[in-house]
Amino acid sequence: MNPFAQTLLAFLALATAGSAAARETGSKTPQPYSAPSETSRFIEAPGINLAQRYCLTCHSADYVSTQPPHMPAAFWQNEVTKMRNAYGAPIPDEAAKAITDYLMATYSEPSAGRR
Ligand code: HEC
Repeated sequence: MNPFAQTLLAFLALATAGSAAARETGSKTPQPYSAPSETSRFIEAPGINLAQRYCLTCHSADYVSTQPPHMPAAFWQNEVTKMRNAYGAPIPDEAAKAITDYLMATYSEPSAGRR
């Protein structure tokens, strides 16, 4: 056998052994999986129900709670407008206004109990 064929055979032997090992470690039965529990929640205050209803369909409350503390009220106004206009969040006008009020009162005030 010439050296090239020898190398080729050695390579094939290794490749076969490798893929057999990979097959053995792979599980055939689906493993149970439960998603981690939601750890981020909106702060309890009037208006929270609307925020939970309309602001959690695309992302978690983390997106709100991880913003820098005490952002000016206008920031929250802009966020709600952005969610509706840029990302197409289907939030009726009345609810959007109430959610904006909730965010301004709850996440802009220095005294708010942020988590
Ligand atoms: C239609 C889907 C959708 C809904 C509903 C939605 N958002 Fe978002 N939101 C997004 C997307 C997309 C991003 C940007 C994600 C990224 O950049 O990774 C985002 C990001 C954010 C951020 C991070 C800052 C920023 O501007 O990127 C905040 C704060 C936020 N959303 C607040 C809200 C609030 C408050 C509501 C309810 C009024 C809401 N979102 C509802 C899609 C949505």
